[in-house]
Amino acid sequence: MTSQAPRLAILASGTGTLLEAVIEAGLCVTVVVSDRTCRALQVAASAGVQAELLERDTFGADFDRDGYSARLVQLLHRYKVDVVAMAGFATVLTGPLFERYAGRVLNTHPSLLPAFKGWHAVRDALQAGVAVTGATVHVATEQVDEGPILAQEEVPVLGGDSEASLHERIKQVERRLYPETIRVFLGTVRDGQGDPGGTAQHIIANPRTQGATQ
Ligand code: GRF
Repeated sequence: MTSQAPRLAILASGTGTLLEAVIEAGLCVTVVVSDRTCRALQVAASAGVQAELLERDTFGADFDRDGYSARLVQLLHRYKVDVVAMAGFATVLTGPLFERYAGRVLNTHPSLLPAFKGWHAVRDALQAGVAVTGATVHVATEQVDEGPILAQEEVPVLGGDSEASLHERIKQVERRLYPETIRVFLGTVRDGQGDPGGTAQHIIANPRTQGATQ
């Protein structure tokens, strides 16, 4: 059992509203990392949280994902990070991260996984005409939007919803569900139940997931 609280890193590339929610929920964030200049870095600065810009050198086909992931791991080591939570991080990360932090990388996705994986989950749900979509918090693996599900919550699709309005309603759920789930997960790591082997099954009972099928 580790007596110290696990050290949490948040990876964010966008507006950082989930990061804000994590900070406002009172979770201690050791470092925020972004791959580009974005509002998330300002959120970290305003909250007095350390922030690092690990900028991508290219968005082209020549991007070295393993090299970037390895540099990220070095950065996380410098901050003695135990748990990594992606909150709208727009670079797909690879082996070096998932080997070092196996079972300790979390993600939130704006659909009821396994439905609507990928970058356009909200648009795809709208186009599919489903009546209900939602949010999923899961342990991330090298396979994008795969990995053990920790918590899910349904969000209804309303008549007249645009991609933006539906995504915002999903994010309202994520801003509550993600901090709650991270808090429980950090507790399992602190109490020695974390699973560095990458087969995490820290399923968090959430009555709101009952019957949530997609
Ligand atoms: C969230 O919907 C998350 O699921 C997705 O990106 C969004 C991040 O929102 N991966 P924000 O940038 O924190 O507002």
